Amino acid sequence: MWNRTFLVLSGIMKKFLPAIMAIIGSVFIAAFVIWAFSLHGTKGLFHVNGQFHAIFILLFVSIAILSASGVVYIWLSPRLKPLPDRLFTIALVICALPGLIAPPLVYAYTNGSFSGSIGDTPPQLIITADNGAFGIPNIALTFNSSQPTANTVVWGTPYNPTSINEEKASCRHVFLFCDLQPSTGYTYRINDDASYSFTTPSADGMLHFAVCSDTHFGAGNNRSDLTAAMLQAIASPANGFDLFFSLGDLVEYGFNASQWHEAFDAFSVATSGIPTLFALGNHDSLFAGINMYKDYARPTDIGLSSNSQLWYRLDVGKIHFLVLDIEWSAESYTPAQAAWLEAQLKDIPAGDWKIVMGHGFYYSSGSAHEGWNWFDNPETINILTPLFEEYGVDLVISGHNHHMELLQHAGVTYVICGAFGGWPDQMRDCTSPASLWYQHGQYGFVDVSLSGNQCSIILRDSTYQSLETLTIEK
Ligand SMILES: [Fe+2]
Repeated sequence: MWNRTFLVLSGIMKKFLPAIMAIIGSVFIAAFVIWAFSLHGTKGLFHVNGQFHAIFILLFVSIAILSASGVVYIWLSPRLKPLPDRLFTIALVICALPGLIAPPLVYAYTNGSFSGSIGDTPPQLIITADNGAFGIPNIALTFNSSQPTANTVVWGTPYNPTSINEEKASCRHVFLFCDLQPSTGYTYRINDDASYSFTTPSADGMLHFAVCSDTHFGAGNNRSDLTAAMLQAIASPANGFDLFFSLGDLVEYGFNASQWHEAFDAFSVATSGIPTLFALGNHDSLFAGINMYKDYARPTDIGLSSNSQLWYRLDVGKIHFLVLDIEWSAESYTPAQAAWLEAQLKDIPAGDWKIVMGHGFYYSSGSAHEGWNWFDNPETINILTPLFEEYGVDLVISGHNHHMELLQHAGVTYVICGAFGGWPDQMRDCTSPASLWYQHGQYGFVDVSLSGNQCSIILRDSTYQSLETLTIEK
């Protein structure tokens, strides 16, 4: 009985194997597409990036063709003469094989399965979204180890050192430095390693910070030598930066741990001594990259007032930073983020500085590229800029476009802060009506000084030379 059933089933399997392969291939492709679109950044990737838009359309078509071919084969094959049947069989097997092989491999690659772990990374001081008792944010010391370890950190002022011990061995390490005094020098030491130092910002309206974006470690054509030179300039005590912001696209493929390793290795020269915030860019969040960003750049245990790992408010006295999750266009600007942003803008006193930062731009010059207009983005402009104007946002700093630009619209100043190592964009084809100053083909970053009611914005190149300065008053 069982033998007969087995023989009948194996006969059906043998006869219809090409159809079964095609149907399973279409299921594999469909599973990959469903997984990809369940991820944070894929909707924007499909919407904005013409190449990936075409690839996903091809995958939708492949699902339909493979599944339909499989069904047609089951019906048609027994009715065909031997030669057409053989040709149909060969054609279907050739078409089905990529559907069986490629989706698991692409899934493993874009899920980071081939990239290993981040390994050992040097210390980074991360600005948390929680304020201490003295009007400035708490700071988290983070680093990674290739093997699970339990570490001890001694930190504090020279006269008041404190020791923190990790209770459990792990590969990701977070130590919180809370209730910091403004304008005060602190040191920290991990186990018996060398001692690092940092100085906290003041809370009385004087603040000096650097903003970079689009470093693109791992791209191949990125200039990591220029990134290193700019990081050295930012790290130099002579230049006196209090805080540092990286507005995304730190890495080319966010799902590749070795690129995060390279980035943190390089950035530590500045970020081990200057409290820093890494915002999320569209390249960082590619496929499973969002998980690596959350694990390495914004771990949950650094304290999260906004209940989000993707958008944050930082208060430094009367200076307020609202860091948004704007990646490709407005796809990542969720209703939850919108409600949070409006609540923060309402909450901040009218006379205080309000500075919005994030990866994606609003007003910008640029060019059409791969089916999308990389200039004055109507989606972010229509959804967000009315809020900026209504609540008196002073300054909006973005990346995404790889050029440097100053713009003003309806009383709000916009800055595109340039490529910090990523390949610079070509000359703009479209000039934004809001544009005041524009520079392409340049690596650089933004240097902002706030003092009382004055804000000085300096666009610097990779040799720390000033390219342009704009001063705004509140
Ligand atoms: Fe970029």
